[in-house]
Amino acid sequence: MAVLKVRKYGDPALRRSATPVGEVTPELRAIIADMTETMYDEVGIGLAAPQVGIPLRLIVVADEEGRAVQALLNPAIVDRGGEVTGEEGCLSIPGAFAPVTRSAWVKVEARSVDGTPLTIDARGLRARVLQHEIDHLDGVLFIDRVDPMVRDRIKRKIKKEGLREDASRHAFAL
Ligand code: NI
Repeated sequence: MAVLKVRKYGDPALRRSATPVGEVTPELRAIIADMTETMYDEVGIGLAAPQVGIPLRLIVVADEEGRAVQALLNPAIVDRGGEVTGEEGCLSIPGAFAPVTRSAWVKVEARSVDGTPLTIDARGLRARVLQHEIDHLDGVLFIDRVDPMVRDRIKRKIKKEGLREDASRHAFAL
């Protein structure tokens, strides 16, 4: 297993739409193991394959207690409801945090690494993590979803000070 390099804001890999995962190969299992290790190393609670430069529809997410990690292949939101605003950050934009309004609950369909179809009903933090990570598969970053004035402030700060490489070690970066 290896810790992979997390792509940072400005890297074109973060803006591409990812391709569906096909067959589960040993290479794919190795990618999942590396992504899991990378997520732990970065103290994140979710990581999407495009964040490590792999253009596949694949995410890893920690469970509610942050103990086990689940890999979701081709995750898709099939139902959603409510609305809730909460603070968010991203391992690819270290040092930036802002409130993001998202659905309060989501129903996600995906496939497990063993090929089992999964249906996940999530609310709270888990719903937020799933929406954030699935956005990454479409090249969408959380700052695209914040208030335009806040977004401008974040962009100006990055331009002026650069990204704070040490700042990803924060409890709530995805
Ligand atoms: Ni992120």
